[in-house]
Amino acid sequence: MNISLTLTKKQKEFIDSSEGEVLFGGAAGGGKSFGQMADALIFALRYPRSKQLVLRRTFPELDKSLIRTSLALFPREIYSFNSSSHVGRFKNGSTIDFGYLATENDVYQYQSAEYDVVRFDELTHFTENQYVYLLSRVRGANGYPKQIKSSTNPGGVGHVWVKRRFIEPSAPRTAFLGENGLKRIFLPSLLDDNRFLAEGDPEYRARLAALPEREKRALLFGDWNIFEGQYFDEFNEARHVISPFEIPSHWRRYRTLDYGLDRLACLWIALSPDGVAYVYREFCESNLPISEAARGILERTAKDEDVYATLAPPDLWGRSQESGKSKATLFSEYGVHFTKTSNDRECGWLAVKELLRGDGVSCGLRIFDTCREIIRCLPALTVDKLRPTDCSTEPHEITHAPDALRGFAIFHSRPSREKAAKKTPWSKDMWEDYRAAGRAEKKYLIDKYGEPN
Ligand SMILES: Nc1ncnc2c1ncn2[C@@H]1O[C@H](COP(=O)(O)OP(=O)(O)OP(=O)(O)O)[C@@H](O)[C@H]1O
Ligand SMILES: [Mg+2]
Repeated sequence: MNISLTLTKKQKEFIDSSEGEVLFGGAAGGGKSFGQMADALIFALRYPRSKQLVLRRTFPELDKSLIRTSLALFPREIYSFNSSSHVGRFKNGSTIDFGYLATENDVYQYQSAEYDVVRFDELTHFTENQYVYLLSRVRGANGYPKQIKSSTNPGGVGHVWVKRRFIEPSAPRTAFLGENGLKRIFLPSLLDDNRFLAEGDPEYRARLAALPEREKRALLFGDWNIFEGQYFDEFNEARHVISPFEIPSHWRRYRTLDYGLDRLACLWIALSPDGVAYVYREFCESNLPISEAARGILERTAKDEDVYATLAPPDLWGRSQESGKSKATLFSEYGVHFTKTSNDRECGWLAVKELLRGDGVSCGLRIFDTCREIIRCLPALTVDKLRPTDCSTEPHEITHAPDALRGFAIFHSRPSREKAAKKTPWSKDMWEDYRAAGRAEKKYLIDKYGEPN
């Protein structure tokens, strides 16, 4: 029989993903739950006698969302659902168990079960223990793909572990190897991806926009950087993080660093002619003596890369009693010459805030999505409880990359005076990319090519 399904681009991406652990996450209404059920249907039909488990945290949620969606979506001629056992069966022998894990111990109902695919909907409602336990139920000798596929909004009790497991280690849509040997991938979804809802309920967006700030950021923008006490609450991945592009050679480049034996954090920043700062490379490593830190920095700087200044905080000029040489002098002996920047914390953090806001005098900050440490640490800094204008220095390991950025933000950096290369009119390909792009990508394309013309 022919089943006709119209899917969004992101839903297709989710369905086609082959990684062991997949997270489809983002704005409310992006089409995640629907995508899960469409995927479950396709899997069940493609792999006869396959077994899947679909989970929500509570029964009413399960019933209202997934069971209803599946009943509306799955053709009755080939599918029946038993409403007391909550098992759905297909004519080809495939099954889908619909379950819920109200308490931590509910996972043990699945002690002897075996599944090809386990699906968590609203993953941040679950605990990491529940998730990891169910991971072990994914197994079987039938040769079918084995996966855990989850969907969720940010927020919820599991926000932190889900973010750590899927969002922080890698750029979106970039698979990486988890410590358990399974490949993981995070596929973001935005409200704009789901034209079915946009067309069917044009006021939905306005209702989300009316929510309080935190909820709005989580549910409307799918923003993962929300939690109490965040110092840089203006940080927003959709706005500040972009895909890398080739930096024009006439843009002025800086390096800025924070150094201690415990950790070196060095950022490479280029200023566009209109003054937008692009963090385009980072080098962050622990336990590097000065010789190795300097070598690492030089190795990561191309021969023809003209670095205008390497900024370092004043304490690197303090002399050690034995040698009489300062760290700055030692770096210099190994070929990295510093320019002193300010260590005024309060002014420095305010300058970072202005960079992030990017309105008025400061033109803003963009970070290449390859710079994982600064992307992870900047939004994780919390307000110092005793000095609310300062960031907390705990946990210490997240402070280094932001400290380096602060040294840049407070320095009087200026773009090169040289004229930007004359902007060429947009080609057909550029236009095509632009039309197919989401909001964040559109911004990036404009940054790269100039306003469409
Ligand atoms: N491919 C599609 N075809 C038809 N309708 C769709 C499709 N994808 C999503 N929808 C509809 O759009 C609405 C939102 O989709 P869905 O519930 O899957 O979003 P969600 O991302 O799970 O939202 P939430 O974050 O609120 O759980 C639903 O009414 C759903 O039926
Ligand atoms: Mg949903």
